[in-house]
Amino acid sequence: MSELNPTQVSINSDTGAVSPETGRYIKHLSELEGIYFDGEAWARTLREESDPVVYEVVEFKKQGSDLFFGTTTMQPGKVGDEYYMTRGHFHEDRTKSEVYCTLSGRGLLLLENRQGQCETVEMREGTCAFIPPDWAHRSINCGSEPLVFSWFCSVEAGHDYGQILKQGMRKLCLDRDGEVEMVDNPNFN
Ligand SMILES: [Fe+2]
Repeated sequence: MSELNPTQVSINSDTGAVSPETGRYIKHLSELEGIYFDGEAWARTLREESDPVVYEVVEFKKQGSDLFFGTTTMQPGKVGDEYYMTRGHFHEDRTKSEVYCTLSGRGLLLLENRQGQCETVEMREGTCAFIPPDWAHRSINCGSEPLVFSWFCSVEAGHDYGQILKQGMRKLCLDRDGEVEMVDNPNFN
């Protein structure tokens, strides 16, 4: 194994900026087709809001390391009644866990395993979530400010989006007159 040197990395809790950073990507609403329950609302939001940014991921990965980390910054917003959320994924390597630490904003981490068990973990400043191996995870911004969290993961974890892109997750997170409500996803089968 190659010799690795310690590195200081700065993370901005409000913007999610990572310095130094080694990679980043942005997800616009147009790239999230099919993940929101209300397809018409998705098309309308896309048109009326000119394909808004839903979230941005910035990472720090050291060549030769077994771990990498970074931030995800999610904008506030909704598609119909459904809050902005990430695509959600299992890890390709089913033995790999992950940790999310919320830096600012307010949201929910939605988790489910392959046996159908569903859990949510609150996301607010100072909370960390342990994501066990082989639990799908999706983060949801239920607040009015950006939701910024850092994550720490094995470089071998990978992303398995397949099952969730096809049938969604078992629960939807909706805005009901200003209150957050979790309901069963009627499209899940
Ligand atoms: Fe993950």
